[in-house]
Amino acid sequence: MDGLKRQAAARALEEVRDGMKLGLGTGSTAKHFVDLLGEKVRAGMKVVGVPTSEATRAQAEACGIALTTLDEIDHLDLTIDGADEVDPALNLIKGGGGALLREKIVAAASDRMIVIADDSKWVDALGRFPLPVEVIPFGLAATKAAIAKAFAEAGVAGQMVLRTAKDGHVFVTDGGHWIIDAHLGRIADAPRLAGLLSVIPGVVEHGLFIGLAGMVVLAGAQGIRVVERR
Ligand code: 5RP
Repeated sequence: MDGLKRQAAARALEEVRDGMKLGLGTGSTAKHFVDLLGEKVRAGMKVVGVPTSEATRAQAEACGIALTTLDEIDHLDLTIDGADEVDPALNLIKGGGGALLREKIVAAASDRMIVIADDSKWVDALGRFPLPVEVIPFGLAATKAAIAKAFAEAGVAGQMVLRTAKDGHVFVTDGGHWIIDAHLGRIADAPRLAGLLSVIPGVVEHGLFIGLAGMVVLAGAQGIRVVERR
């Protein structure tokens, strides 16, 4: 699987041009991309990156990639990131690594988003992967009730689990928030659910990325498949 992830990352690297301002994703697939980009930079390519997590920041710095922030610049040429699920409309579930908030801010500030993944991430309908919903700790029960109402309106249901870290404590995001993982099974109308979740006050962000990815690079046993949004 790791070899496939690296192949997808290598294919996406072909889309990167000298001088580009890049969003750098988070996760095991994006890690391969940052690694390969670092090789290019050390060979003389000039790019500047905005990392989507502290983990990616540390890796990019170690690789010698010049970094900036979305305070210094307000727009990026291209973001390359992984995903937990991709559907045929190129809508995504992201946030398995807990970086969904910065990932969505960075993707939304980019002219183009390319998703890199092994082909196990390709699904007919989103939802088998638990949907991450980033929440403010204050008023958690009220926020969960509002989320459950949104689920009912969107015709989905399932257990909501507060994410914990490996040490058993509540997982805290880079932004200081918590994550609820919603086990929904199948989300028939992901854009509708995304809209319903976005207006809940205690929800900071959710892992449905609707209309953001322009291209997906899927690596599988049969080779690389590139899917572009129509
Ligand atoms: C992190 C993410 C990741 O892109 C997603 O979890 C995929 O990770 P991986 O490449 O390790 O499978 O959204 O928040």
